[in-house]
Amino acid sequence: MARVRLQYACTACGGVTVKWQGQCPHCNAWNTLEEGRAEPVGAGQRFRAANAAAQTVVAMDAVPPDNVQRMATGSGELDRVLGGGMVEGSVVLIGGDPGVGKSTLLLQALAHMGAERPVLYVSAEESAAQIALRARRLGIEGASVALLAETELERILPVMESTRPSVVVIDSIQTIFSSQLPSAPGSVAQVRECAAQLTRFAKQACVGVVMIGHVTKEGTLAGPRVLEHIVDTVLYFEGETHSSHRLVRAFKNRFGAVNELGVFAMTETGLRGVANPSAIFLSRAGRDVAGSCVLVTQEGSRPLLVEVQALVDGANAPNPRRLCVGFETNRLALLLAVLHRHAGVALFDQDVFVNVVGGVRISEPAADLAVMLAVVSSLRDRPLSRGLAVFGELGLTGEIRPAPRGQERLREAAKIGFSRLIVPRANLPRKAIEGVATAGVERLDEALDAAWD
Ligand code: TYD
Ligand code: MG
Repeated sequence: MARVRLQYACTACGGVTVKWQGQCPHCNAWNTLEEGRAEPVGAGQRFRAANAAAQTVVAMDAVPPDNVQRMATGSGELDRVLGGGMVEGSVVLIGGDPGVGKSTLLLQALAHMGAERPVLYVSAEESAAQIALRARRLGIEGASVALLAETELERILPVMESTRPSVVVIDSIQTIFSSQLPSAPGSVAQVRECAAQLTRFAKQACVGVVMIGHVTKEGTLAGPRVLEHIVDTVLYFEGETHSSHRLVRAFKNRFGAVNELGVFAMTETGLRGVANPSAIFLSRAGRDVAGSCVLVTQEGSRPLLVEVQALVDGANAPNPRRLCVGFETNRLALLLAVLHRHAGVALFDQDVFVNVVGGVRISEPAADLAVMLAVVSSLRDRPLSRGLAVFGELGLTGEIRPAPRGQERLREAAKIGFSRLIVPRANLPRKAIEGVATAGVERLDEALDAAWD
């Protein structure tokens, strides 16, 4: 066997050097070079020469539509996030915190898909007995799923080659390793090499591969960001382990829309899809409380109502604290500055805490208005009316900007039974919704007046 040549790739910019250095010569980042295997020099050239004659260009309109074949995973929610089912031969990366339910979800999906085609579950974390035990708990022990407990890539690939499954789950990409590389399992070089080889296999043999990945404390997939470029679809599994609700979000999808959201509940017998999740993130207390505001957010193709809570409390330190769960802290600081300048509400001597109920992470700017109203409500100790729901983005000049897909949000809020809505003026419905009082606002102070009129 030819000696393996090594190279060093930068995890920040992807630049390659032949020698290890402390600083990447391409992007000047420090300590980002990771060992990896270099492609043999001759191979690429031979490949190019052999293919040179065969290559032809085609006119775009002459390309026949490619009918992607999709496989139902047995869970409507997972199908939705994948864009309508798992595409044959596609590579999916699914990331999430430990214990959030990644192995459970994928085992359930495999059990369903295994009824019609051969499937393989490769676990580098658990033994076959442990997986079988889980299957029994899930009530799917009779499903035809081939199990392989193995950590070495060079032993996994031949099994995939010989058994030719339609779908393979790799649990997890950080715990398998290639014996071609000297670095430890889980290192950037290993993760990238294993993912690249699995992807190559998936594309050649038209095998769907699902890679489970662990998430670091910062919330990104452990290992190089390049993984996200290699694969077709990146899903994130979110949710707090102490609440039963789990969210699966599409972060990148070559075969469907991004930001699509699947909602699950963890039960005694595995993960169940929640078909109508609109109201599950509303933990309205029995009576009106200050510091709570309902937001109509739009995740992917469907609107969702979530409760935003805020607590404003006198600061004891010179630097007041701004802390957010499920919302961006920097964005909160920005909003508080706008609140001061354009509505005259000063919070420089107050700690401000913001929480989005149910472990939901809100990234869209249309949440601004709900956060502001919750903060002001807490500061003034004046509850907002119970039937109120809002959405709208706040600009730096104090204007309330329209949110995309306003009509759908309005309809959803009305359906759940909200009778008062404060929305950007541009999002006002053309025709009044029956039984719902909708106030269109253009500026922040207008919105505050409308909330407590
Ligand atoms: P798991 O799929 O092992 O998580 P991951 O692979 O993401 O690390 O799920 C682990 C948690 O799910 C565990 O804490 C127990 C819980 N669970 C249930 O509540 N019900 C079930 O039926 C199963 C299988 C797990
Ligand atoms: Mg697991």
